[in-house]
Amino acid sequence: HDIAVFGPSQAAAQLESSKSFTKELCKKINIPTAPYDICNTSQQAKEALENYNYPVVIKADGLAAGKGVIIAHTKTEAHDAIDDIFNGGYGDAGTKIVIETFLDGEEASFFVLCDGENIIPLTTAQDHKRAFDGDTGPNTGGMGAYSPAPVMTDDVIQKTMDKIIKPTIDAMKQRDTAFKGVLYAGLMIITGEPYLIEYNVRFGDPECQVMMQRLKSDIVPLLYGAATSFQGIDLPKWYDWSAITIVMAAKGYPGTPQKGSEIILPSLNDNSHQIYHAGTALKDNKIVANGGRVLNITTTGHTILEARNTAYDIAEKVIWDDGFMRSDIGYRAIERETKEGKI
Ligand code: AMP
Ligand code: GLY
Repeated sequence: HDIAVFGPSQAAAQLESSKSFTKELCKKINIPTAPYDICNTSQQAKEALENYNYPVVIKADGLAAGKGVIIAHTKTEAHDAIDDIFNGGYGDAGTKIVIETFLDGEEASFFVLCDGENIIPLTTAQDHKRAFDGDTGPNTGGMGAYSPAPVMTDDVIQKTMDKIIKPTIDAMKQRDTAFKGVLYAGLMIITGEPYLIEYNVRFGDPECQVMMQRLKSDIVPLLYGAATSFQGIDLPKWYDWSAITIVMAAKGYPGTPQKGSEIILPSLNDNSHQIYHAGTALKDNKIVANGGRVLNITTTGHTILEARNTAYDIAEKVIWDDGFMRSDIGYRAIERETKEGKI
């Protein structure tokens, strides 16, 4: 209908919606990623498994709300995962399985905008997927994030552009499924080399919150440019401060969250800090919890440590009995800042 749309077509969105699609594209154009097998039956998967060491990574092919990836430490766990996926444990997502070599490194995310042909690099971030401190507990949509991700040095970013992003965008154009929108590359960095773990075709939550806290430019022309063409567009400018976000979730999340309890927020007197409402509602003029991940306390600082301290100071002032948060968001980056003598 000739409407300018920010976001990919259904065919281009397969970069997120089908892990086997992305793996086959990687193989075809030589993108660094974990070696893998795609299996259509349980028997085929169990046979393929014999060629892998442990831990091994078992993935349902389709979208499974972040739950379709199992890191199996034993053959029994791997067989259970395969049976669970093929027995319908992940619904339509589980008609195929991808088995992958486990990559041992540091994870980071890299974001670009694309107008189908041209690429504008955005920035980097790091999410925290597990519900509890020390990366324990069930997987969630993300309990906190920071940006930039220090493991993404200029050199690693350049390699990611050259070896992963550019070949992908070129290949998508060549197969007549040009990619428009935001491409989010989930990476594993092993001794300075990036490997693609997955693509998402959207801004991550809560990665978006920290990126927006660092973006100096107006985002609307950038999004419009991706929907139409980047011709003549100004590249985005960034504040060189660090940003962090702490997710306050309702008790019960990622299972069934408790809803309806009142939240009293502190007032903030600095624009570089924000409390994003992710799952609240207004009831009788009071703010109440109305979802799993409820608030994003988002702050900035000269270092991740400084931003983290401000964020937890603000979070401590939130009056809400039914909420919980992780207390260690940013710990890897802070370890790195300490090692590098920045703090
Ligand atoms: P995905 O949904 O593909 O991003 O996978 C979810 C999480 O599983 C990732 O964020 C990684 O922590 C982990 N993961 C996925 N694939 C691998 C792999 N090949 N090696 C190590 N960890 C992985
Ligand atoms: N935070 C991860 C995601 O949005 O997929």
